[in-house]
Amino acid sequence: MPRTQCSRLYPLFSVNRRKRNDLLNNLLKTTDDNLRQIISRLNSLREEEQITLARRIHDNLSQTLTALQLEISIIGSGTSMTGAAAEHFSHVKELTVTLMDTTKELINGLRPPLLDDFGIVAGLEWLVSRYQTDSGFVCTVLAEPKEISLSFDYRTALYRIAEEALENAARHASARTVALSLIGSSKNIRLVISDDGVGFNPRLKTEAAAGKFGLLQMHERVYFLGGEISIDSSPDIGTSIVVQIPLVSEESE
Ligand SMILES: Nc1ncnc2c1ncn2[C@@H]1O[C@H](COP(=O)(O)OP(=O)(O)OP(=O)(O)O)[C@@H](O)[C@H]1O
Ligand SMILES: [Mg+2]
Repeated sequence: MPRTQCSRLYPLFSVNRRKRNDLLNNLLKTTDDNLRQIISRLNSLREEEQITLARRIHDNLSQTLTALQLEISIIGSGTSMTGAAAEHFSHVKELTVTLMDTTKELINGLRPPLLDDFGIVAGLEWLVSRYQTDSGFVCTVLAEPKEISLSFDYRTALYRIAEEALENAARHASARTVALSLIGSSKNIRLVISDDGVGFNPRLKTEAAAGKFGLLQMHERVYFLGGEISIDSSPDIGTSIVVQIPLVSEESE
C-alpha cells in the first residue's frame, strides 16, 4: 500500500484500537464487578450458615447439656456415693463440664453471641482474649468510645477482618505482641491491627493466585462498605493493617 494511503488509514486503525481497548476495559470492569458481587454474596451466605449452625448447636446441644448438668447435680445431692461409684460419678461430672466448654468454643468459633448481643467492642475483646490464650503473643485491645453501635454488615466486616489479621499474626508473624484498636466517630470507624512480627511483602494478586485469600477477602470486605485499607509491612519490624470505613446513617441509606 502506498505510503500516503497508509497514513490516511492510520487514524482509523487507532480509533478502532481505542474502541477495542474501551470495550475490553468495560468488559474487565463488568467481570470485576460481577466477581465482587459473587464474593460478597458468598461471604453473606457463609455468615448466615455460621449463624444458623451456632444457633442449632446452642438450641440443641447446649440446652440438653444444661439439663444433664442439672440432673447430675440432683443425683449428687440426693445420694451419697463411695468407692468406684463415686469415682465414676465425678468422672461423669468432669466430662459434662468438658462437653459444655467444647460446645461454647464451637459456638464462639462460628460467631460469638457477644458480637450480636453486646456489639463490636465486646466481640473484639472476646477475640483478643481467645488469641491471647491460644497463640502465645500478648494481645491488647483499645476501643474509643467503649461502646460502638454498628449495624450487622459493619460489625461483621470489622470482626472478620480482625479475626483474619489475628489468625495471620498467629500463623505467619512469630509476633510477640499484637495491638488492636477501634476508634469510632459519627462519620467513620477506624480499625488498626499491628504486630511486631517478621513482616512480609504484601502482593495481593500473587497471594490470591497461590490460593491465599485472607488478605484479598479483607480488601473485598472494606471495598464493599466504601472504605479504605492499607497494609504496611516491613521485615523484622512487623505488619500494620489500617482500615477506615465511612459510616452511612440509616436515614441517608
Ligand atoms: N501479619 C503477618 N506477618 C507476616 N506475614 C504475613 C502476615 N499476614 C500475612 N502474611 C503473609 O501473607 C500471605 C498471605 O496472607 P493471606 O491471609 O492472604 O493468606 P494465608 O494466611 O496464607 O492463607 P488463608 O487463605 O488461609 O488466609 C501469608 O501466607 C503470609 O506469607
Ligand atoms: Mg490468612
